[in-house]
Amino acid sequence: MTDTAVKLRLTGVRKQFAVRGSQEQFTAVEDISLELREGEFLVLVGPSGSGKSTLLDLLGGLSKPTEGELLLDGKPITGPGLDRGIVFQQYALLPWRTARANIEFGLEAKGLRRAQRRELADHYLELVGLAGFGDRYPHELSGGMKQRVAIARSLAFDPEVLLMDEPFAALDAQTRESLQDELLRIWKTTGKTILFITHGIDEAVYLGQRVAVLTSRPGRVKSILEIDIDRASGADIRSGERFREYRHAIWEQLQTEVSRAQGLERAEIGSAGNDRRHAHV
Ligand SMILES: Nc1ncnc2c1ncn2[C@@H]1O[C@H](COP(=O)(O)OP(=O)(O)OP(=O)(O)O)[C@@H](O)[C@H]1O
Ligand SMILES: [Mg+2]
Repeated sequence: MTDTAVKLRLTGVRKQFAVRGSQEQFTAVEDISLELREGEFLVLVGPSGSGKSTLLDLLGGLSKPTEGELLLDGKPITGPGLDRGIVFQQYALLPWRTARANIEFGLEAKGLRRAQRRELADHYLELVGLAGFGDRYPHELSGGMKQRVAIARSLAFDPEVLLMDEPFAALDAQTRESLQDELLRIWKTTGKTILFITHGIDEAVYLGQRVAVLTSRPGRVKSILEIDIDRASGADIRSGERFREYRHAIWEQLQTEVSRAQGLERAEIGSAGNDRRHAHV
């Protein structure tokens, strides 16, 4: 690691869950050690059920590790904080608040004045392509629109660390690409530290300075790839040779894990009394 400060440090993190109706513990992630430098954009990929959202919850301070340590700026994470903004895999909007008021929510916590809050909320609504939808309630928005409100909320909140769990998964290809570029632009101009989870290999290569691949459950860090692509060139980097090579390398890593996970699942379906959640791969 270079001189740059370490923003997030995970050391030997394990998370186990109690299995309902049994004395057993289910291990979701195991021995995760990972560092994010200040201002780094790290992408996490892994098969479904490999513990990505579990890790995000731990980093968000929403749950505690069974073993190991999670440090932010060298201090243990003990709960949620204004220094971290989370975009959950399932849009977590307050149903009784309009889109704009959802974005303003975090800004209230920061003590911003009403006019400032409104201005910021409208700016970010526009940024995610939802200008004119500020007065809608979540139930009046589509899934992708709700997710965009959640993204706008986390960006408006302007935390030092952004934790994003498949934020663009529910969006159409055009919206996704424009938000990817917007996120890269924001990252470059603000120097935020970003942990971004995705199933999209292209998305991982396009966004990440490094891509960490998790094994199928229990999730461990299988490998970390440095992505060295000149994003400033302005060229269509997605169709470049390097891009294809990186994509293939990650695809191969994931492929073995997905096959392993399927093997595990078949074995479990064949055995009696398994917990249904375990079959979620
Ligand atoms: N609260 C919980 N209690 C019991 N088991 C849990 C709990 N939360 C998650 N798990 C289990 O931990 C494993 C990891 O779940 P997690 O949601 O972190 O996976 P993921 O990598 O985010 O998957 P996906 O890509 O499908 O979102 C799963 O097998 C899941 O069933
Ligand atoms: Mg998940």
